[in-house]
Amino acid sequence: MAATQAMLGVIQSMAAAMEEHRKHLTNLDSEIGDGDHGNNMHRGFQAALERLEGTDPPTPADALKAVSMALVSKVGGAAGPLYGTAFLKASTALSGKEDLSPEDVAEAIEAALAGVKQRGKAEEGDKTMVDALAPAAAAAKEAASAGKGVGEVFRAAAEAANEGAEATVPLTARRGRASYLGERAAGHMDPGARSTYLLLDAGARSLGA
Ligand SMILES: Nc1ncnc2c1ncn2[C@@H]1O[C@H](COP(=O)(O)OP(=O)(O)OP(=O)(O)O)[C@@H](O)[C@H]1O
Ligand SMILES: [Mg+2]
Repeated sequence: MAATQAMLGVIQSMAAAMEEHRKHLTNLDSEIGDGDHGNNMHRGFQAALERLEGTDPPTPADALKAVSMALVSKVGGAAGPLYGTAFLKASTALSGKEDLSPEDVAEAIEAALAGVKQRGKAEEGDKTMVDALAPAAAAAKEAASAGKGVGEVFRAAAEAANEGAEATVPLTARRGRASYLGERAAGHMDPGARSTYLLLDAGARSLGA
């Protein structure tokens, strides 16, 4: 119950971050894509809030599953199905759990990463959200093994995602629309890597970390 409330707080904070950074994400996507990433993410998270409103999800996994369904049904293109898969895999990893340990959170982020890689076929260095999510999963695992709390695990994941997103700037893209640009994609941050950082940062902040 307490963990479900905390998860709902995380989701609300993520939705608020997508609202706040909508223009910024769309501007990044205008540089190397089609300029819709901020609007896509904002629309998806508003749909997630609507889906959750007035419902009382019994577990954190149920809350994450609702987010996944909203993202898949309301966000087209690349990011909708990819983030939808990420939230679905995180939900499956936490299935049936009423309380969440730091290890559970780390495993959920790892499962999200595995889902995105399986679905999108991107590896690290391809200039996608994987460049933020992969270091995030590793940092979360390390923080959990070091005995950190749930909020600190999110914070560690967010900081690693931030560095991963920054590191996409000089890269050329091998996946997604940006890959059509060749060398011209270099010099710009990948919007999906940036949104991954913003989501994890919002989660950490809602947990007081
Ligand atoms: N195959 C992939 N694997 C992982 N992430 C991907 C892949 N393709 C695209 N992305 C991510 O999706 C982001 C773009 O999301 P957006 O919401 O703009 O969808 P889109 O406009 O359909 O995508 P795109 O412009 O890349 O075709 C990219 O910045 C990248 O991080
Ligand atoms: Mg786009």
